[in-house]
Amino acid sequence: MKDKRDKIGWTKEQLVNMDEVEFRARFRERCHHTMEIAIYSAAHKNKKLSQKQTDTAKLYMEAWNERGLSKDLSEYKYVSKLLVYANKLISGEKVSFDDYKPTKLTENDINAFENIIYERRSVRAWKEDDVTDSLIDKILKAGNWAAHGCNLQSIRYAVIREKEAPGLFRGSDIPGGPVHIVICQDMRNYVIFPENWHNILLDCGAAAQNIVLATHTYGLGGCWLTYTSEEMRERIEKYIGLPPEIRFVTYVDIGWPDQTPMPPLRRSVEESVLFRSK
Ligand SMILES: Cc1cc2nc3c(=O)[nH]c(=O)nc-3n(C[C@H](O)[C@H](O)[C@H](O)COP(=O)(O)O)c2cc1C
Repeated sequence: MKDKRDKIGWTKEQLVNMDEVEFRARFRERCHHTMEIAIYSAAHKNKKLSQKQTDTAKLYMEAWNERGLSKDLSEYKYVSKLLVYANKLISGEKVSFDDYKPTKLTENDINAFENIIYERRSVRAWKEDDVTDSLIDKILKAGNWAAHGCNLQSIRYAVIREKEAPGLFRGSDIPGGPVHIVICQDMRNYVIFPENWHNILLDCGAAAQNIVLATHTYGLGGCWLTYTSEEMRERIEKYIGLPPEIRFVTYVDIGWPDQTPMPPLRRSVEESVLFRSK
């Protein structure tokens, strides 16, 4: 009997046996490209969805279950929900996503957003470390909710308190912040798309930007930093115990702010736009 294959050639057996991180990345990417986008398009155009559009997702769900992975994991829950909508669209039922419409922002909300964008500063001096883990987790969650190429979700973190590892971040051009949020990427998520290498750093940058914005939003001060030598990178990777598949990319120091820098003024939009359609 011919084995069921997904569009890029994986059999269910291969999917069941491959590395779990790679499998979950493929699951997210394949369901995103073969079903998710088609569902929103069909719903928007009020068109029927082809049954074929769900074949890959169903194959991956079967492989997921055979692997015995938890049905509580986010991507499985999301794809299960998508399949409910897909089946409605296949049967010609109208589907609305109005329940997911974002909250309409008030003028105050918009002002707050603009304050966050324009008043966030790189803070390089902090008070004593009494940042709670729950506050740090809110910041990490904001990092996870950044846009991410193909929904691969490669971002991983290490949270290191300076007082627990004094001097570990020596080599930075500023004295260590009380809490270092080390942003890493699990490279197994990218095995699927080696040609999309340019997305890799962008994914990390998007997460880091959400992290500095969230840091400011919760009243903390943060500074986005980068290791300054291979020796520094290796020292920190060794301390965390990172396996070779997980790469330390950048880090953000956070804490309660103890300085108020002026905004380094930015180039105007006029000066930044190189081309604009007439
Ligand atoms: C990728 C990246 C690397 C950075 N590295 C450093 C650094 O090594 N040391 C530092 O003091 N600030 C660093 N910064 C912070 C910038 O200096 C700062 O964002 C810039 O001067 C603008 O100031 P603002 O963040 O207060 O608006 C970095 C920022 C980014 C995005």
